[in-house]
Amino acid sequence: MAQRETWTSRAGFIFAAVGSAVGLGNIWSFPFQTASNGGAAFLVVYLLAVFLIGFPTMLIEFTIGRRSKQNAVSAFAELGYGDWTFAGAIGVFASFITLAFYSVVGGWVISYIVGSVTGAYLGDAGAYFGSVSSGLVAVGAHALFIAVTIGIVAFGVADGIERATKFMIPAILVLLVGLAVWASTLPGAGAGYSYYLSPDFSVIASNFGDIVPAAMGQAFFTLSLGFGVMIAYASYLGRDDSLPGDSAIIVVLNTIVALLAGFAVFPILAATSGVGGASGGAGTAFIALAGAFGQLPAGQIIGLVFFIVLLFAALSSSISLLEAPTSYVVDSQGMERRTVAIGIGAVAFVLGIAPAYGYVGLFNDLVFNVLLPVAVLFIALFVGWVANREAVDELGRGSSIGEGATTIWLWWVRIVVPIAVIVTLYLGVTSFYTGLTTGAYF
Ligand code: TRP
Repeated sequence: MAQRETWTSRAGFIFAAVGSAVGLGNIWSFPFQTASNGGAAFLVVYLLAVFLIGFPTMLIEFTIGRRSKQNAVSAFAELGYGDWTFAGAIGVFASFITLAFYSVVGGWVISYIVGSVTGAYLGDAGAYFGSVSSGLVAVGAHALFIAVTIGIVAFGVADGIERATKFMIPAILVLLVGLAVWASTLPGAGAGYSYYLSPDFSVIASNFGDIVPAAMGQAFFTLSLGFGVMIAYASYLGRDDSLPGDSAIIVVLNTIVALLAGFAVFPILAATSGVGGASGGAGTAFIALAGAFGQLPAGQIIGLVFFIVLLFAALSSSISLLEAPTSYVVDSQGMERRTVAIGIGAVAFVLGIAPAYGYVGLFNDLVFNVLLPVAVLFIALFVGWVANREAVDELGRGSSIGEGATTIWLWWVRIVVPIAVIVTLYLGVTSFYTGLTTGAYF
């Protein structure tokens, strides 16, 4: 079999992992989850979820990946625990489901770039969303988005994924800073900041059952956890650098991008339709923002920049969602990467026809409320209670963190992470079930 690929450098891995993490989750979902869950109160719970649960969970995947040097399905057998293969298989299957609806939303972004150029959404933002979000236009844009994703993954780990993310991540950062600075000059920006940044803790107390699963799901999603992406990416590490160090950089950069997106979006909403009116389904963000761009001076240019940022973010993540199943087939069947990427991408395209006809909400909630917590729960139990010696050893390699810190991490992964995930899963499944039975998705 051919030599397995590796990143060209530590920075290459970090760019790719940040690219996976920074996505629609940061720029589309985060500001609007925050807006509809009470503003700053949600932000506080979300940051706790990211740093206390997400960060240690990322280390779970990094240790499995770098230790096994295998994709997320084969990794378990490679480490000598073939019985746990199902845990990786659930994740990789879920990454494939996620890719299907993620690509549909990526297609919406393409339509909004076109709409920014033609000015088509400036007059009636709701009508524009209606015309591009489902039906043939949505299917076509979804096809285009997934084709670009396949194109990048087909080029491979270093020449495709690493090269694309090294370009896209700096571009996202620079453009988002520009947008946030511009937004700060809008009249009424202050009201946006205060909703975003001054927490009202009574909101948490009275909406605990909604805020906690939303914040936890958002934390796992934004960090690309659970679905074997970070296992696959860490499996291409050629040498031992500090996993906690890399993980800290990735988590912090990902958080900075989400916060920046909030600094752009909240003043824009406050200056136009208002921050409170942004709750609702998957389309709200597109309608609210496009409507805002229609009312603002230079809104068309700002809209173009915003949707280009969103497209880069979406692509640098969708390639990781395709890489997880692709790496499995390449590793285990020894097939050619290009063929595999095209084949899996084509099947994800077909599966995505359902969300392209109006079921984005269903796919989104299935992923956030059910698949993510289930997948994270299994890998946490695996590393905490089964492969704990290997994981602790791997965590220490190339890193200067002491035995004390590693032990705390292990017990955290054994006890705290599973409890947090089980609570999330219970609340998330309950709300998903309610949605199914009340017909919210159909
Ligand atoms: N993190 C990405 C975002 O925020 C989405 C994503 C990419 C993802 N790969 C993933 C989510 C793996 C869960 C698992 O948009």
